[in-house]
Amino acid sequence: MNILLLGSGGREHALALKMRESSLLSKLYIAPGNAGTISVGTNLDIDINNFNIIKENCLKLNIEMIVVGPEAPLVNGIHDFIKEDNELKHIGVVGPKKLGATLEGSKDFSKIFMEKHNIPTAKYKSFTKENLQEGYKFLETLSPPFVLKADGLAAGKGVLILDKLSNAKEELKDMLCNSKFGEASTTVVIEEFLKGIELSVFVLTDGTNYKILPSAKDYKRIGEGDTGLNTGGMGAISPVPFADKDFLDKVEERVIKPTINGFKKDNIDYKGFIFIGLMNMNGDPFVIEYNVRMGDPETEVVIPRLKSDLVDLFLGVVNGDLDKKELIISDEIATTIMAVSGGYPEAYDKNIVITGLENITGSTVYHAGTKQVNGEVLTNGGRVLSVTSMGNSIEETLEKSYKNLGEINYKGKYYRKDIGQDLIKNNI
Ligand code: AMP
Ligand code: GLY
Repeated sequence: MNILLLGSGGREHALALKMRESSLLSKLYIAPGNAGTISVGTNLDIDINNFNIIKENCLKLNIEMIVVGPEAPLVNGIHDFIKEDNELKHIGVVGPKKLGATLEGSKDFSKIFMEKHNIPTAKYKSFTKENLQEGYKFLETLSPPFVLKADGLAAGKGVLILDKLSNAKEELKDMLCNSKFGEASTTVVIEEFLKGIELSVFVLTDGTNYKILPSAKDYKRIGEGDTGLNTGGMGAISPVPFADKDFLDKVEERVIKPTINGFKKDNIDYKGFIFIGLMNMNGDPFVIEYNVRMGDPETEVVIPRLKSDLVDLFLGVVNGDLDKKELIISDEIATTIMAVSGGYPEAYDKNIVITGLENITGSTVYHAGTKQVNGEVLTNGGRVLSVTSMGNSIEETLEKSYKNLGEINYKGKYYRKDIGQDLIKNNI
């Protein structure tokens, strides 16, 4: 089978490598891909939000399945586009249709969905500039810190957590009246602050049957000790030591089952990954957010632990018989450390030569913001590459990844040296 994988991050390199292990895969195309995916398949230099170009390539390359990595094409309706086109509708798509993708595309929509299906989440209300004064009043009923969320996609920057009521009111006004996050903050969700430990759980579903993938914890801030600006993620660990069986059973009963049943009740045709961001509050799960794709860098620790055939699981997703497929997960621990460009998540340089990749032993390097030019690997983004290691303890895996990160060189290389230390020190 010929597969087209959309995306260009570490997530896509990890998905591509795992799919490459399958005997069901013939040709793999990655659009646009990166310097890492070149050795796994064929990169296509196309805009993944231009569906007509995708159509042309699907017909030309005899594509039978599309796996969608990032959220944007899903929110823009790639799955609907494929199914509504007579020449393309035979192609299986891993990733929800536009309505399902709204769970990530609109925080207000996802809160309404959770409320309707009794899925535990923070109490909330949504506001527009027409009812700004009511927003102020609602803020006055809450205790600090105050959580303000732009309703739409804001490149991971649309959530503000503020200690002071006066600041929260100012920011609410800025979001609603001055378009602080552009269109995305036309509506703002204000919600109760949840205090606990965060983790993510990943589910693969065909809309009826589901498989629960390993849990993971990521490290979002740029600075050590979880300080500084938010990033796409600076490292990840799977499994999450504090997500024991009792907790994960609660996640399945209280969150996963009502989510899948909710899809049925609301006629949401959902085939693909669900990324559930959770807060563990004294042993009880609360949903912080849904994403309609895998996380990055969470994929770089979840997918390497998969022993089953990923392409076969994807066939289960598109054909609706995921219950017939087997999910086997390695007991080993996986950790990944993300190396970024100096300056990220603010301005940074690109096109810097990366050397030393050939010296890696005992770890896997997943390329993210890289490109290959005349045989050289150059930086091409803020998050450059992540180094994943597997083993029997967090310490052992970190040691391998940090040793290998020392072998890789490029000007401005930065990575956090404290990934996993909170789990090791606090024994959680
Ligand atoms: P989101 O984009 O919804 O994942 O929010 C970004 C981050 O803000 C989350 O990963 C949490 O760390 C934090 N956050 C979001 N909502 C809440 C909440 N209700 N209580 C506490 N922290 C939150
Ligand atoms: N690492 C968080 C995300 O992929 O959204």
